[in-house]
Amino acid sequence: MRGKVVLNRCMSLDGFIAGPGHSMDWGGGRALADFVAPDDFAAIAAATGAMLVGRRTWDVGAKMEADEPGSVDYPFTGPMFLLTHRPLDPPDPAVTILAGDIGDAVSTALAAAGDKNLEILGADVAAQCMQRGLVEEILVYVLPVLLGDGIHFSAPGVPRTDLEPLSSTRSRDATILRFRVRRASWIS
Ligand SMILES: NC(=O)c1ccc[n+]([C@@H]2O[C@H](COP(=O)([O-])OP(=O)(O)OC[C@H]3O[C@@H](n4cnc5c(N)ncnc54)[C@H](OP(=O)(O)O)[C@@H]3O)[C@@H](O)[C@H]2O)c1
Repeated sequence: MRGKVVLNRCMSLDGFIAGPGHSMDWGGGRALADFVAPDDFAAIAAATGAMLVGRRTWDVGAKMEADEPGSVDYPFTGPMFLLTHRPLDPPDPAVTILAGDIGDAVSTALAAAGDKNLEILGADVAAQCMQRGLVEEILVYVLPVLLGDGIHFSAPGVPRTDLEPLSSTRSRDATILRFRVRRASWIS
């Protein structure tokens, strides 16, 4: 049995997944992990078998880590796939670089996830996946802030998508929402 393709996001209450200039400041200098109950965060990470990450998300994470070591503290150590047209400098042998068709990239990363989930990270990458009907579940950590401006949850070109609510959980200072995507192309 294979895992699911999950779009995993944290989001301000007014629908931004990052602030202006790709800032990931959710308030009080707190990282995502500080808003979510540790057990919930660990359980979601444990259900994850691989990650498919867009290059800008990667670069934002690398800068955060350089500015403040430990600020990107997702407890995941499995296969990591990076979608980019540019090699990493320096190269990272733990990361597989992919480029080209988004369907092929998702298939490759999903196979590596085994019976666990594939997490999709990055607004542009997520939009490509949504456009192709590749996302099966959406998991959102709603954080207690109104950012007012920034990167919207949904990028232009993402089609209307009907969702089935799966769960809504208060987790420390975050609310974790899960939805199943109706008519994802993987599900026939
Ligand atoms: N709140 C959250 O949970 C969360 C999670 C993730 C990201 N974010 C935020 O979202 C923003 C990043 O999203 P984004 O939309 O700007 O970028 P993104 O999706 O992270 O990355 C887009 C880049 O990935 C590369 N790429 C995408 N598809 C490709 C393909 N099929 N083949 C080869 N390369 C491909 C291209 O980079 P090159 O051509 O330059 O190589 C493209 O410009 C940041 O602000 C980040 O902080 C928030």
